[in-house]
Amino acid sequence: MILLLLAAAVPVCAGCHPKETATHGAAPMAQTLFRAADSDVLKSNRALELRRDGFRWSVRNGVYSVTDGKQTLETPLQWAFGFGNLGQTWVFERNNALYETTVSFYTSSKSIDITPGHLGLPRRNLEEAFGRIIDPSEVRRCFGCHSSGGLPEPNPGVQCEHCHKGALGHSADLSPMAKLSKISTDEISTLCGTCHRTWEDIAVTGPHDVQNVRFQPYRLANSKCYDGADKRISCTACHDPHSAKQAPPKVVTTTKINVDTQCRSCHGATVKKVCPVGKSNCASCHMPAVEIPGIHSKFRDHWIRIAKPGAAYPD
Ligand code: HEC
Ligand code: HEC
Ligand code: HEC
Ligand code: HEC
Ligand code: HEC
Ligand code: HEC
Ligand code: HEC
Repeated sequence: MILLLLAAAVPVCAGCHPKETATHGAAPMAQTLFRAADSDVLKSNRALELRRDGFRWSVRNGVYSVTDGKQTLETPLQWAFGFGNLGQTWVFERNNALYETTVSFYTSSKSIDITPGHLGLPRRNLEEAFGRIIDPSEVRRCFGCHSSGGLPEPNPGVQCEHCHKGALGHSADLSPMAKLSKISTDEISTLCGTCHRTWEDIAVTGPHDVQNVRFQPYRLANSKCYDGADKRISCTACHDPHSAKQAPPKVVTTTKINVDTQCRSCHGATVKKVCPVGKSNCASCHMPAVEIPGIHSKFRDHWIRIAKPGAAYPD
């Protein structure tokens, strides 16, 4: 029954909320998890291979294997995590547990390499080279962020009801719903932070190095521009959660707005400080793209600031 409701969630909202539903399905956030058989990354990359440290990993037609030249371990893949903005990591079942693959697909190089988080793990034998066992509480967290409803029958992706609490009941009986457009900038940051991590999560447990550039609620709140009660600096001022999409690289825009418009809604309007250097493409200098070593991916630094080339990374 619950399963049926979940599976029907999007069409059910569509009839009454066509605007949000129309764009949401194609957004990466709605597609953060796939059954391996449905993964476009796997369908369009039928033979991937990596040789390293005396092992050879391969991913062929959804089958994952590792060999040391003498013995081979092999298994079909079960889950694909990530739409592929940055990459995709796979999960397989073995001995009644779930494992994360040692290698992941990286979109920037269109090839496989060691999974983030596996670089420092020991690979002394074939078993260790095959994958990392994910303990049950971590499994719940992975599916909690990348799907809606969670295990045992996850509805893949960040679906409507993940952010709009009570939406499934509402779609049946029209019980009142909270208007998320009315909540504060701090509350939006906390909502997005349930997955993108909140300011508190990072302030308390770290990381306090360049790795934290991927945690936008933390970075943004540290910026002088941030005011938890000012809508002009909320996540939703620049991102439409129903159609968030990576924008073209040159002039920095999000799908929602040209970011310059958003900067100017304060600078030169209610905030006197204006730029002595640039007139447009503000984010290209003040929200630099920062590469995290080892994961072949860049993130846009949401700690808006005068970022002098070569200056230390504020963490
Ligand atoms: C049968 C029609 C119907 C269905 C199905 C339905 N809604 Fe609604 N929804 C409404 C109406 C009517 C309102 C109240 C709008 C108003 O007060 O302006 C509403 C309000 C909302 C609100 C609060 C926003 C606002 O403007 O008040 C949200 C959020 C929402 N719905 C989300 C959803 C989601 C998510 C689903 C699918 C799981 C869904 N709804 C299914 C009719 C529907
Ligand atoms: C606290 C929530 C959370 C948990 C737990 C989590 N993720 Fe994620 N994951 C995210 C968010 C948010 C992103 C988006 C960008 C980023 O921070 O890299 C992401 C991004 C990814 C990506 C890159 C997606 C792309 O399209 O490029 C992969 C792959 C991934 N996660 C796999 C996993 C796996 C596997 C697990 C469990 C072992 C896991 N994640 C656990 C929130 C989470
Ligand atoms: C990642 C979180 C997230 C997801 C997923 C999401 N929404 Fe929203 N939704 C929001 C936020 C935040 C707002 C307020 C946007 C604003 O202020 O511009 C909102 C606004 C709305 C509104 C306008 C009323 C309001 O709450 O202010 C409706 C209706 C709505 N969403 C329906 C949907 C439907 C239908 C889906 C699925 C197709 C969906 N949403 C998926 C976060 C989400
Ligand atoms: C002032 C505008 C602005 C605000 C406010 C903002 N962002 Fe962004 N965000 C951007 C820009 C610009 C990009 C880069 C887009 C591109 O390069 O395609 C981006 C990219 C992202 C990405 C993609 C990964 C990355 O870091 O490059 C995520 C996820 C994200 N933002 C989440 C958030 C969250 C969560 C909040 C609220 C805490 C937020 N953003 C607030 C402008 C903003
Ligand atoms: C339930 C977990 C969850 C919540 C809540 C959530 N996100 Fe995400 N978000 C993700 C994951 C996972 C990804 C990685 C998507 C992929 O696989 O590429 C992501 C990716 C993104 C991206 C980059 C991809 C794109 O669509 O452009 C943006 C921007 C983004 N989220 C903004 C937001 C904002 C703004 C909010 C709050 C309104 C929010 N997210 C809330 C899990 C979440
Ligand atoms: C909600 C209003 C608001 C928005 C939106 C906003 N800012 Fe700011 N910004 C401020 C305030 C307030 C300060 C602090 C001014 C002061 O110190 O007098 C500031 C400071 C700055 C500084 C100086 C930081 C330093 O370290 O001295 C820069 C650079 C800056 N903003 C750039 C931007 C850019 C680029 C954008 C768009 C991506 C933006 N701001 C969006 C309000 C905003
Ligand atoms: C080519 C890079 C570049 C671009 C584009 C750019 N800036 Fe700047 N901005 C700088 C530099 C460098 C400084 C520091 C200047 C100094 O200290 O002499 C600065 C300083 C600032 C300050 C602080 C001024 C003060 O009095 O302390 C603000 C605010 C600011 N920029 C906002 C913006 C906004 C808004 C935009 C887009 C309309 C923008 N910048 C575009 C490079 C740039």
